[in-house]
Order: sequence, then C-alpha cells, then structure tokens
Amino acid sequence: MDNETISIDHLITVVKKGGRVKTGVDIYNKSGVLLLEQDIMVSSATVLENIKKNGVNTLAIIPGNQGGLWDETGKPIVIETHPRAQGTSVPTLDAGPEIEIKLREITHLRKEATANYQKARGNISKVLGDIKKTGGQFDYTLVEDTVSDLLKFMTENENGFSYLTKEIFSYDNYLHNHSVNVCTIGTAIISRFNKRFSESVNEFLASGVNVDASFRYYQPEELVDISAGYFLHDIGKVLVPDNILNKKGRLTQDEFDVVRRHSYEKGLEILEKNKINNRFIRNIIMYHHSVLYDNEMNCYPDEKAPEGLPAYVKVCKLADIYDAMTSKRSYKDAFNPINVVTEIFRKYARKDNLLQFILYSFVKSIGIYPTGSVVMLENGQYAYILDSIGPLVLPFTDTEGKTLDQRQAALDLGGEGAIKVDSERSLLHPMESFEILPPYLKALSMPA
Ligand SMILES: [Fe+2]
Ligand SMILES: [Fe+2]
Repeated sequence: MDNETISIDHLITVVKKGGRVKTGVDIYNKSGVLLLEQDIMVSSATVLENIKKNGVNTLAIIPGNQGGLWDETGKPIVIETHPRAQGTSVPTLDAGPEIEIKLREITHLRKEATANYQKARGNISKVLGDIKKTGGQFDYTLVEDTVSDLLKFMTENENGFSYLTKEIFSYDNYLHNHSVNVCTIGTAIISRFNKRFSESVNEFLASGVNVDASFRYYQPEELVDISAGYFLHDIGKVLVPDNILNKKGRLTQDEFDVVRRHSYEKGLEILEKNKINNRFIRNIIMYHHSVLYDNEMNCYPDEKAPEGLPAYVKVCKLADIYDAMTSKRSYKDAFNPINVVTEIFRKYARKDNLLQFILYSFVKSIGIYPTGSVVMLENGQYAYILDSIGPLVLPFTDTEGKTLDQRQAALDLGGEGAIKVDSERSLLHPMESFEILPPYLKALSMPA
C-alpha cells in the first residue's frame, strides 16, 4: 500500500464503528500547531473531529511508518493501491500530475528560499565589512531585516532547510557563508523545537522526568532575537587576525587562545560598542562554544555548566558544528552531511532530556533524506529525493549509474516490499550529486 490521503469524514465513520487509525506522520494545522503525533493510535472520533475543526480535511496515512487503518475486529482495512511498475515489485505513483505538482512546489519554494538566502548573504557582507572598517560598528537594522524573512520562511515550511542545500554546501567566503548558514540551520531547528514543545512538555511531566527552566517555549518576538543571535554569533571573528583565522597548519596554543576569544571577548566587545544588550543575542555570542554535557572537551568559556545553558544556545552550537563539518576550509575537506548528522547524533545523544529533545529537532529539521538530495538504491540506480516522507524518490540513472533521458516514475521507498536505499555505499555529497543530475532536475536545484 502506498502513502494515502484519506478524507477525515471517512476516518470518523470507521472509528465510530469501532475501528482505529494511525497516521505514521505528524499532523499539523496551517499555523504549524501539532494536532496529532505520528505514533498515536486513534480510536476516538472526537480526536478526529477536533482535527477537522482545525481546517484539516484529509489525513495522510504512511504505511512505511507503521501508519494504517483497522476495522473493529482489528483487521487492516486495505486502502486502494496504485498500479505497480511493470516487471518489478516496487510500488510506484503515477509519473503524471502528482509528480508535476511536487516538482512545481519544489521549484517555487526553492526560489523563495534562495531569495532569502541571497539577501541574508548580502546583508552579512555589509555587517562584517562595516565591523572590519570601523573596528566594531555595524547597522543593526540589516540584521532585523534579514532574520524576519528567514524566520517566516522557516516557520511556514517544515522542510525549509532542504531547499537550501545547494547554497549551504557551497563555499567561497567562509565567515560570510557560515554566518548565514548557522542562522538558517539554527532558525530551522529552533522553529521545530518550538512546534513540538507544548506537546512534549506534557509527555515529560506525565513521565515524571525533571524538566529544567531552560526547557521552555519561545515567543515569536524572542525567536527574532534568537535568529539575530545566530546571524551574529561569530562577529567577533572579524577582529581575529586573518593570518590566524586562515592558517593552514595546526594553531599554536597562543593562536588558539586568540581564536577562542572571538566569542566571550571580541564578540561581546562589538555588542557593547553598538549598545546591543539583548540577552538572547548576548548569550548566543558568548556561549556558542560552551559545554553541552559534563566533561565535554575543547569548550569555552568554562563559566557555564550544561544545565545553565539555554536551549537556544545549545541549538547554535549544534548548527555551528554541523556547518563547520560540512564545509570545505583551507585546511580540510568537507564531510558528507548525512554522515555528519549521524556523528553529531552519536556524540550528543542520551546526555540529558533537553539535549535529546534538541537533537530530535535537529535531525527532524535537517532530515535524513532532505528534498533535493541524491541517494543510491539497492539496485545501483541513483535517485533524487522528492519528499523526505517515505521517502518519495525519482530514479534518474540506470543500474550502471548512466543518466536516463526519460523521466522515470517516482518510487515510494516507504511502501511494503519497496526497494531500499543502499546503506552500504557512502552517500554522495550534495555538490557531487548535483553534477550527475539530468537537466530537468539540475534546473530545479539551480539557484534562481
Ligand atoms: Fe564561534
Ligand atoms: Fe561559528
């Protein structure tokens, strides 16, 4: 059975008769409020009626994620299936309108995301350039202007990040791109964090787990300040001499100390010069290299313990590590983003509840299969990710890796018996995979 969208009225009828439904995907209303979690087995019609009151008239059921529909005896109700591709056991969607709509949607969102990114890129150049010229002064309205649009885009689009992979993983001027990237990634994570908050705090309370004061919901105007903090997190680096910042070999202890001071000393100095005393911005700049768990190495300054570090600062640190590891610098190669997510997850998982929750938001917003990335299937075909749910992919090479001229039918890899992603082979870096895309997919991935 493929992923299906089913009218909520139909589901209400089934449930009223004693049946049950589980979506296998989180359901949100238009403003991003979580209405139903993916793992909840619904047996009450009131729950569904409530969702309907929120303006949601159809629900997606994702069988690949344990979603389904069962009658009153517990027997699965088979929902109409799509025709199968000839000669294979792989469930497919029609290569027709659905894919066209998906591709058009990707094109549209990419345009919007790219425009936001380019604007942010222009603004950060001015901000960093001014700091360099004046020794610290910059125009704060440029920062506000940048983050308001970016934040809006990220809160409105769950997978906002995935439309920017091409920009995020290409590098010219490191500090400029890094500032915009950390702002983009951090904003995506904190929006996700916020959306899940109200639901999960109840879970935590119910389970009797201690939730400390730094685990809280952020108001919209606070999110603007947080996003501005991410944008500015490394401004102190402008005052670090270039020969140290771009040094190819290992830094000496003294040089390392100079670099460290970009956060708690130089960054702070610039804020004071500009009379910015917003505590969100200040905390992010000062503590974005602080410890996330006891005894974590190479962190500074050491005045903050992990429990005292607010969630939005922890988010900045993760976004910072992610961007630093996936970027190409003068002294190192870029790591594959998917391996980086795994590595960060391994390092920080299970330290404490707040960090666990942040990591969850991190993995959810970065995504294991972001739209626009390329994976290799078990049969050797390369495929383009159309939607991270499933995931839904469009194969574009033959099994030998030769690019196909004709557009193929999309495959839902979440379907039963569906072909899987080849997990043995290392995944392609987004920049390499862009090179092998056929023209119609390349066009989608090009900056507007
Ligand atoms: Fe930094
Ligand atoms: Fe940084």
